[in-house]
Amino acid sequence: MTFLDYAPALESTSILNLKPSYGLFIGGEFVDGSGSAFATISPATEATITQVASATEGDVDRAVRSARTAYDKTWSKMSGSERGKYLFRIARLIQERSRELAVAETLDNGKPIRETRDVDIPLVAAWFFYYAGWADKLEYAGLGPKPRSLGVAAQIIPWNFPLLMLAWKIAPALAAGNTVVLKPAETTPLTALLFAEICQQAQLPPGVVNIITGAGATGAALVAHPGINKVAFTGSTPVGRTIAQTLAGTETKVTLELGGKGANIIFEDAAIDQAIEGIVSGIFFNQGHVCCAGSRLLVQENIHDDVVARLQKRLSTLRMGDPLDKNTDIGAVNSRAQLERITEITDSGEVEGATRWTSSCAIPEKGFWFAPTVFTDVHTSHRIARDEIFGPVLSVLTFRTPEEAIAKANNTPYGLSAGIWTEKASRMLAVADKLRAGVIWANTFNKFDPASPFGGYQESGYGREGGRHGLAGYLMPSDWKAGAK
Ligand code: NAI
Ligand code: MG
Repeated sequence: MTFLDYAPALESTSILNLKPSYGLFIGGEFVDGSGSAFATISPATEATITQVASATEGDVDRAVRSARTAYDKTWSKMSGSERGKYLFRIARLIQERSRELAVAETLDNGKPIRETRDVDIPLVAAWFFYYAGWADKLEYAGLGPKPRSLGVAAQIIPWNFPLLMLAWKIAPALAAGNTVVLKPAETTPLTALLFAEICQQAQLPPGVVNIITGAGATGAALVAHPGINKVAFTGSTPVGRTIAQTLAGTETKVTLELGGKGANIIFEDAAIDQAIEGIVSGIFFNQGHVCCAGSRLLVQENIHDDVVARLQKRLSTLRMGDPLDKNTDIGAVNSRAQLERITEITDSGEVEGATRWTSSCAIPEKGFWFAPTVFTDVHTSHRIARDEIFGPVLSVLTFRTPEEAIAKANNTPYGLSAGIWTEKASRMLAVADKLRAGVIWANTFNKFDPASPFGGYQESGYGREGGRHGLAGYLMPSDWKAGAK
């Protein structure tokens, strides 16, 4: 046994009490969907977890109508403090059921239990607690003395942080007085369906939250429904663009949180060992399925070799394997399609002339896996330096001066996140000021807080989620004409 060998420490799945199939959650109840049901699988084993319904256009219409009725009759008439009580109740139920939710998320998504248990689910509860506190204080949201809710919000979320993205969408929408129809991603619907049960447990008035499962066509039908007042989307830039086209010229409000190609900038005076940990969490956290990942490492030229050597040494200690094992650092890639996408872009890296290094970890036989990979000798024109890979792949570039670092960091069609590593606060502030990114971390990376706004520039989307700013996406000033439908 070497110092890296650990006895397995598997989290039990016995806490889960899953049904063999799930319907759509409309009007406070699970109802049958009209489309053909599909399986959600565990990407670590390819085993079916459960069957979920597929919502057709007719089902989407039912869900939107249910949300409208709940809005008109109940939710828009309720005081903020009453709405807040429901949100506090949901937050407490999430904490009570946190272990179950962590296991379900790990099973369905493939991410390590250490992450769902210590990051995803605690943040989900924190988001509901945070926005519960806002529900009766909307006059301080910066939109005038009596801001009003929009109506029915259509929310479409991706598979990388399934329950957390649900929380980012539903908590502010409900606090602001809207009702919602949410569509989880087709590969990770499980925790959204458990959340529907939590809504029942919290005795949330029927129709305030509706959850419809299905693939892209269901999402497209929801966006095109004339009865919605708002679309909030997190996912790929091409789908975001399609949504913006569908809604152009309508009164429907839109927020889009799309991709990224974040620069993590390491200056020569940085605390290197600390920076190595930040680089690792920046791109290898959640298998790199993170829109704000630090996927481009910009290293000052004179420390390049040292940083790369230390990074490779550190990456060689990461354990990839069963996501339910508490020792696991790197879990499974979420789907076969995503694995193919990662493989295709990384292959282009070698073809274009970059040097590939891959951690020599064992790859399980079943499931979708991609070992931590680092590319050096990367040029700004390479695809691996420009396209979002959305996998555990880091592209390393160098710079000589702060000006060059800034120019390279900003040389991207995206603009979601960036990181700065230096011991000099003055440099930190001066560089941060010139980076065109919505979130900039200094001497840390991938840290989230419900009070902090999050969002991007350019092709990373528009609108902000989180904090007081996140409320603006679900409210309008009282002197705006109501978007009644
Ligand atoms: P996607 O954008 O297709 O999926 C995201 C969500 O949108 C899912 O719920 C999906 O069912 C829905 N959707 C798909 N087509 C739609 C349409 N026409 N109208 C409305 N909703 C629709 O993302 P996909 O294909 O799973 O991933 C592709 C790439 O997108 C990834 O490799 C990654 O680069 C990027 N991505 C970025 C995310 C982020 O957090 N910014 C999240 C997921 C993917
Ligand atoms: Mg799944």
